[in-house]
Amino acid sequence: MERLMITGGSPLRGEIKVHGAKNSSLPLLAAAVLCRGETVLHNCPELSDVGAACEILSYLGCKVRRQGRSVVIDAADIRSHSVPEPLMREMRSSIVFLGAIAARAGQADLSFPGGCELGPRPIDLHLAGLKKLGLIIEEDRGRLLCRVDGRLKGAQIALSFPSVGATENILLAAATAEGRTVLTNAAREPEIIDLADFLNKCGAKISGAGEGTIVVDGVEALRGCEHRVIPDRIVAATYLSCAACTGGDILVTETEPVHLAGILPIFEEMGCAVKVEGKSIRLKAPARLRAAGDVRTMPYPGFPTDAQAPLMAAAAVAEGTSMFVENIFESRYKHAGELTRMGAKIKLEGRVAVVEGVPALHGAEVSCTDLRGGAALVAAGLAAEGETILREIHHLDRGYERIEEALTPLGAHIRRIAD
Ligand code: UD1
Repeated sequence: MERLMITGGSPLRGEIKVHGAKNSSLPLLAAAVLCRGETVLHNCPELSDVGAACEILSYLGCKVRRQGRSVVIDAADIRSHSVPEPLMREMRSSIVFLGAIAARAGQADLSFPGGCELGPRPIDLHLAGLKKLGLIIEEDRGRLLCRVDGRLKGAQIALSFPSVGATENILLAAATAEGRTVLTNAAREPEIIDLADFLNKCGAKISGAGEGTIVVDGVEALRGCEHRVIPDRIVAATYLSCAACTGGDILVTETEPVHLAGILPIFEEMGCAVKVEGKSIRLKAPARLRAAGDVRTMPYPGFPTDAQAPLMAAAAVAEGTSMFVENIFESRYKHAGELTRMGAKIKLEGRVAVVEGVPALHGAEVSCTDLRGGAALVAAGLAAEGETILREIHHLDRGYERIEEALTPLGAHIRRIAD
């Protein structure tokens, strides 16, 4: 078991690069299953979730080579259509393989992705959408036994909520279905556009990605392609939160500022000077942050639920009271209890968190409760007086490439230690 030792109190200064997006990489790796040829993904981050997705690909019979941030997948021969339970549990978003495996193999056998640290994470929208495309799904003791009679068929599908995962699964299944699929109330996240761009390069005919209605004209088959994963907007938001918390001044490079349009105004509201320069974002924090006001998580282009926790660390040391309303996941405030151990004043009531800023946090022994909750604790530890010991950091490694190595050049005192 490893932990991070963080000595807080130094303002972060300097330049930091953003790696590729985890939430794009995973559906892109699933999409490689559809391609009868070689797929090359660049800027695919070295994260444990990416490793888990590669393991699933290998299990299915794909040849997978990882060289740093490039992954080469040869899906010419798919030997299996099932994903074993431990692999499904390791990464809950593995459900996004369902649409791709079913479309490629005509059958799929996956288990439910299992319980989750963010509260219930149902997959009813995924399943209803795939059923509309003609997938026959039987549930048997926690497993989803799926088959297709002939070929999947295009359909009209309306989502009752713009679910990111359901939109991805439906796109993957519809890309090689017979005829046209029209998906309304689709998720509009940048990762959806990235997936559609990739599939189109492979020969798919998808239009409207990034808008509420996506039209997919199914094609017979897809070939592989070479693709660069978009930058991770949540990692960028995390670095900005770390700088804001510590009164720092940083330049976040290799990012896509447009993707942070729902986030940057909040840092400005908190008194930070934010300047976009091409693909970089400069943030200069004031000596003391102001409260964030009301932060409501929303589907894109609203404020992302994934950035809620890191921003809460900044609100914890701001002057005044901030209110967070979590509209996407039911149980996404587990980090609040850990922040409280560091001196934060946070009151929770259902989906609302009220954060009364304190002049300073103090170091403590805390644990990552989940991926983004862990990021909040890193930011808080950097801002706090004294030493913080952060445990359960395997959560962080799911979504941040060696976060301690990324932050050290900015003047952060943060070390990884084996127990
Ligand atoms: C994705 C991201 C995750 C991010 C989230 C919100 C990936 C791999 N994961 O998760 O990091 O936090 O988007 O941006 O990209 N819902 C249903 N039924 C369903 C599906 C979803 O009720 O079938 C509900 C969920 O419980 C949740 C909401 O819809 O309340 C949003 O979920 P969704 O957009 O699907 O998020 P994920 O794809 O799980």
